[in-house]
This record gives sequence, C-alpha cells and structure tokens, in this order.
Amino acid sequence: MLTEMEHHSNIVPWQLLARDKGAQLKYVGISDDGRLVGDDFRQHLENGGIKLFAVTQASNVLGTINPVREMVREAHRYNCRVLVDAAQSVPHMPVDVQDLDCDFLAFSGHKMCGPTGIGVLYAKRDLLEKMEPYQGGGEMIREVHLYEASFKDPPFKFEAGTTDISGAIGLGAAVEYLSHIGLRNIRNHERDLTAYALDALRKLKGMRIYGPADSDTRGGVISFNLADIHAHDMASLLDEDGIAVRSGHHCAQPLMERLGVAATTRASFYLYNTEGEIDRLVESLGRAGRVFKI
Ligand SMILES: Cc1ncc(COP(=O)(O)O)c(C=O)c1O
Repeated sequence: MLTEMEHHSNIVPWQLLARDKGAQLKYVGISDDGRLVGDDFRQHLENGGIKLFAVTQASNVLGTINPVREMVREAHRYNCRVLVDAAQSVPHMPVDVQDLDCDFLAFSGHKMCGPTGIGVLYAKRDLLEKMEPYQGGGEMIREVHLYEASFKDPPFKFEAGTTDISGAIGLGAAVEYLSHIGLRNIRNHERDLTAYALDALRKLKGMRIYGPADSDTRGGVISFNLADIHAHDMASLLDEDGIAVRSGHHCAQPLMERLGVAATTRASFYLYNTEGEIDRLVESLGRAGRVFKI
C-alpha cells in the first residue's frame, strides 16, 4: 500500500517488486487540500492482505506532514509493516524511530547538507536478522568456501563491497552540524518562514497553492502555479532575479495527475533562508505577473 503523494523513488521499486512477486499495489488517495484520505487507508487494511505500507513522512511537493505515528499503530493491528520515506523529514524536524515504531525508515544525505550517493536505511533488528543479503561481495561475509558462504550480523551483511567511506564521513559531519543547530530549532524556523510565505503568496492575484493551508502540519516547501504561467517559465523569470526554485513534476507524476497539472513551481526553505528572501520572491512573482499580463 502506497499513497498518491509518493516520490517516484517510493513507487517504482514497489512496482518492480510487485511485477516480480505477483503482488498488487493499493493506493491511499489524497484530499483536495493535500492530506491522506484516512478512509482509504483503513479500508485497504480492513480488506486484508496488505503486507507493507510505504509512506512519506513529509511530501516533497505538498509539504504535508503525515500522521505517521498513528498510521503505524493502526497498520500494526493488521500485521502490516510500515516503511517511512523520511527524505523530507529527517533533515527538517526531530524524528525518532522508536517513538514512531516504524519498521523501516529511509533518508538521503544530499538533502541534509551531506554528500550525494549515500543515505540511511533503518530497520528493526529482528527484521534485519530475518532478511537475506540482497547483494554479495567482500566485507559482508564471515567465511567463504568454494560452494557456500556465511554472513556477518546485521547491518554488515547488507554492506557488500568496500563501503562509501568518504560519503559516510561527510554524512556524519552533516548529522553533527544539524544536531548542533538543533532539529527542533530548524523545524520552528521553517514553520515560521512557511507561515510568512503562505500569507504573502496568498495575496497575489492568480496564485494557486497546493497542499494544506496550515503551516503547523506542513514542512517548508510551497508548490504553486500563478495563473497559467508554465512552471518552467516561472522558474526562468525568478532565476533572473537570483531566486532558485524547482519547477516540473518533482518526481511525483502520479501526484501531478491527481492535482490535474503538468507541473508546479516549488519554493523550498531551509535553515539558511530568511523572511527578506521571501519578500524578494514575492516581488519577483509580482514582476512575473506583469510580464505575463495577469
Ligand atoms: C520525499 C522524497 N523521497 C525520496 C527522494 C529520493 O531521494 P534520492 O534522490 O536520494 O533517491 C526524494 C528526493 O529526491 C524525496 O523528496
């Protein structure tokens, strides 16, 4: 079971697995204000047969922060394991796997001031013990003979080959840096910036913002479209004013289909952004509106 707000990286691997195992995918839909539809979630569980629920903790498009803790509790009542995509939460807010009680949780180094090519997959120890290695090579073995091999204890049995040592050192530095600033402080800062930006953006003529209206239940990303200006044109105009946004489908094409748009423009905030920069964004959007005669 997945949701309609997942990043491609939390859809495509499950499509491949479903193809290989003959499993079926079920989707939890989203409401018009960008929240998961609780009835869909419960209905799929009640229908039975759901083995795994893979859900994003924070949407990279809508900003929605999902009630993961409550969903884990509910899913476990049906013997359904839960995997949390925390790529957009771990860098931005305190996340505690024991409190969530999730079975798996994944996040990426490059979204948290760390290097590309490295990330973290957490899993409960009893699951790691039951799982077979998915790759073979040096480092992960205990003993190798001509016709058989035995493997190290988890997590090492999953680390085939020479590990990404430099990546791990870089990611460790990023973790220390963010922990020193404090994830709670980062979350508060982003929540304030998001509330400030939502207020200002809503006043612009022709503005359509996607996702929940309330900054308490959303992370620091705001996806929008201004009248019928294409997101790529918008990104180019903002770029001329020195403002970097992302435009396109944000690796969430099923979500774009659900929203009925081909693309959106997305402003994203992090610990280094300021209210002054949001004022510049709003000014620049005003200019874009004038260029396109809105
Ligand atoms: C919510 C979410 N999940 C997963 C990913 C994928 O992470 P990676 O690029 O490290 O594969 C991203 C961003 O790329 C994301 O925003």
